[in-house]
Amino acid sequence: MTEITSKIKILIVVPILLLALATFRDYEEELMINQLEEGKYQPQETGIEKEILEQECSERKVRLGKKGEFEIVPLLSYPGSGNTWTRILLEDATGIYTGSIYSDGSLARGGFKGEGTNPLSGMTMIVKSHFPSNEEVMDRAKALIFVVRNPYDAIIAEFKRRRGHGHTSVVEEDIFKSKPWFENAPRWLQGWGNLARNVTEIARSRNLPLHVYSFERLKENATYEMEKVLNFLDDGIGWTPDDREMRIKCLSELQKAAVSFKREKVPPSFEYYTKEMIEIGDKTIRDVHEVLLEAGFDVFDIEEYFRS
Ligand SMILES: *[C@@H]1O[C@H](CO)[C@@H](O)[C@H](O)[C@H]1NC(C)=O
Ligand SMILES: *[C@@H]1O[C@H](CO)[C@@H](O)[C@H](O)[C@H]1NC(C)=O
Repeated sequence: MTEITSKIKILIVVPILLLALATFRDYEEELMINQLEEGKYQPQETGIEKEILEQECSERKVRLGKKGEFEIVPLLSYPGSGNTWTRILLEDATGIYTGSIYSDGSLARGGFKGEGTNPLSGMTMIVKSHFPSNEEVMDRAKALIFVVRNPYDAIIAEFKRRRGHGHTSVVEEDIFKSKPWFENAPRWLQGWGNLARNVTEIARSRNLPLHVYSFERLKENATYEMEKVLNFLDDGIGWTPDDREMRIKCLSELQKAAVSFKREKVPPSFEYYTKEMIEIGDKTIRDVHEVLLEAGFDVFDIEEYFRS
């Protein structure tokens, strides 16, 4: 009985917790994933009392669709770009669980009920796919969403996540002095650029509606960015939630409740990127900024992305 109660509590509290966590300054996504894996959610740590939210916002209303109910809208993003957090917001905004071309058990256990469903089933609409690698999903896509994050931050977050050890999330900085880091980071920076180029190219050549937003602006104003996503879904595939106004209002309440709770993060003790990597990275950022502008998206400040 207590177990059932605590499970129910987790499902309701987790999204609120995650939204709170995600608004920490310099928050890194691997922390959140580790917490999901460990199942250690401490509502009192969130700084959000469920009770302060208005009644209609205190419980999460998200569902899976019936088979064939929804069109497919792939959610593309370079690994480490805050994908998990973005999915929670998209689920809160649309009221539909997000799907995935991967099947990540820890996410499924953490309350992502669309994780592990068949992305082609139509039971989900927005489907996580870091790269446009799943042909069936890409062929059936009716629109695309692309999330951009500063590549330097994304690559650090992803490298830490992959090398992270269990729940402590304390990752030794020494990993940034290792051979795998030196050998791969330049390639990853270029891969970040390729993804942005590929996504805009796919949207153009297949004539698919595309929406792009950045992790950084999402952190600044999640409600506003989610409203833009809903506008996009309405214009692009003619879909809108029945209770749109209520959903926006609740996002905005959660956002207000979360901003007051921020945790300082220890800054890196040295620059993880070498001069050569930064040359590659900054050049890639300049290219991608231009490519996105040409496609009609002014979603990040180039000076804020540069490392030099
Ligand atoms: C992007 O396209 C290039 C060439 O078209 C391909 O080699 C590469 O694997 C693609 N990259 C991604 C991230 O999809
Ligand atoms: C978010 O953006 C909207 C539209 O620009 C604005 O009205 C609102 O005050 C912003 N909220 C925050 C918290 O910055």
